[in-house]
Amino acid sequence: MAVAARTDLAFQQCIAPACGATFSVDEVLTSCPSCGNLLDVTYDWDRLPAPSSFEVFERKWMRRSDPLALSGVWRFHELLPFAPRESVVTIGEGQTLLSVSDGVGRYVGMNSGQLHLQYEGLNPSGSFKDNGMSAAFSHARMIGATRAACASTGNTSASLAVYCAVTRLMRGIIFIGSGKISYGKLSQALDYGALTIQIAGDFDDAMARVKEVASKTGIYLVNSVNPFRLEGQKTIMYRVLESLGWEVPDWIVVPGGNLGNSSSFGKAFAELRHLGLIDRIPRLAVINAAGANTLHELFHNRGLRWNGGQADLAPVCHYYDELDRENKRADTLASAIEINRPVNLNKCLRALEVCDGVVREVTEQEILDAKAQVGAGGLGCEPASAASVAGARKLVNEGVIGRDDRVVCILTGHQLKDPNATVAYHTTDQNLFNEVLGSRGVSRASFANRAVTVGNRFDDIIQAIDLYS
Ligand code: F0G
Repeated sequence: MAVAARTDLAFQQCIAPACGATFSVDEVLTSCPSCGNLLDVTYDWDRLPAPSSFEVFERKWMRRSDPLALSGVWRFHELLPFAPRESVVTIGEGQTLLSVSDGVGRYVGMNSGQLHLQYEGLNPSGSFKDNGMSAAFSHARMIGATRAACASTGNTSASLAVYCAVTRLMRGIIFIGSGKISYGKLSQALDYGALTIQIAGDFDDAMARVKEVASKTGIYLVNSVNPFRLEGQKTIMYRVLESLGWEVPDWIVVPGGNLGNSSSFGKAFAELRHLGLIDRIPRLAVINAAGANTLHELFHNRGLRWNGGQADLAPVCHYYDELDRENKRADTLASAIEINRPVNLNKCLRALEVCDGVVREVTEQEILDAKAQVGAGGLGCEPASAASVAGARKLVNEGVIGRDDRVVCILTGHQLKDPNATVAYHTTDQNLFNEVLGSRGVSRASFANRAVTVGNRFDDIIQAIDLYS
């Protein structure tokens, strides 16, 4: 293997076993120059002072005045050791929560104490993206980049924008599709001062363009094709384990869009097992929205597999040709995952193999009902995040997830990211409901909490309170 040939402890490596080409971490690459496949950040664990137990991370809780010990990403620096301490960029990301939710658990069909929600909405920009952005910024700082760009359905751009605003290390440039980004997310990018370029097209178009611009101009790309970003996202799994007293759950359930999270989770668990820190790997469920279901179509319906790195990718080309021929665009209210050409598809296939994973798709109705249940349970999330809960429910109904399994659903983004869908779901205004949700095939708001309208009279108000409380 190429590992022995290198003297550096961390390097980039093509994920295709047949290629396996390696590159220094000082190079800025988003695909393998030899074969075009995705890249990993690989470590020579035999020569690194890798931790032999999880205790080293627990001890850091005592040193939280050190920004690297406070960060929920860099607390695990030993498990993503590509950046020297002085290059690390942190704005306090990763202070997130794992909690048991019996209310949501009942909805999903689980027995008490078994359903956990990992709430990544608590990050500085309100989504899990900050885990990856702090890692990408650390790499960008190592190589001296001054401008960074991304295509985004909203959260990556909000994250890039906040890291630029706080650190002043780079100028942020974001590419968004027209009318495809929720106001909560757009307002963040504008407020934080990122250069916002709205292109005629959707996310898949914006992604193709930003890759072209980055490769021709040298602007640093922070989308999840950047392998350093995914190193940061591994830490979501470390924090899940930490919250469970380092016990491995049975299932991780995550929404699938560009498939960066699922890919990084698979890598995190494979590395932890390699290091002997865990002895088994949880199963992974990746949940697509039915209106943006490329992974489901290819993995579940058409048998596409990683196959030890020998994936036959012909069905992928065939499927993308089909999409083009039928001019089929991704279309879902879960706008964060409205993606038809997921850039991390190959890595996700590998993660599904490592984690004995499954893929499901969920409808708009299932997403919104699950979202309402998450909100009623107290945390709240944006529609894309609720796909994880809707997917878990489907898998329990099918008997794939057992009622007594220990399940962790990842809530990827904050409730306030996309209030339109929430208000339309709970509204008493049928026109608003029809316009925002009905037009997408949502026929009912099963768990609506409707506002009560009364006249501006004391007695009417008291009567309403007595009636409804
Ligand atoms: N959930 C939320 C809230 C997201 O913003 C995204 C992706 C996903 C899930 C999907 O994660 O790509 O790792 O499979 N949002 C990207 C963006 C595409 O531009 O903000 P994934």
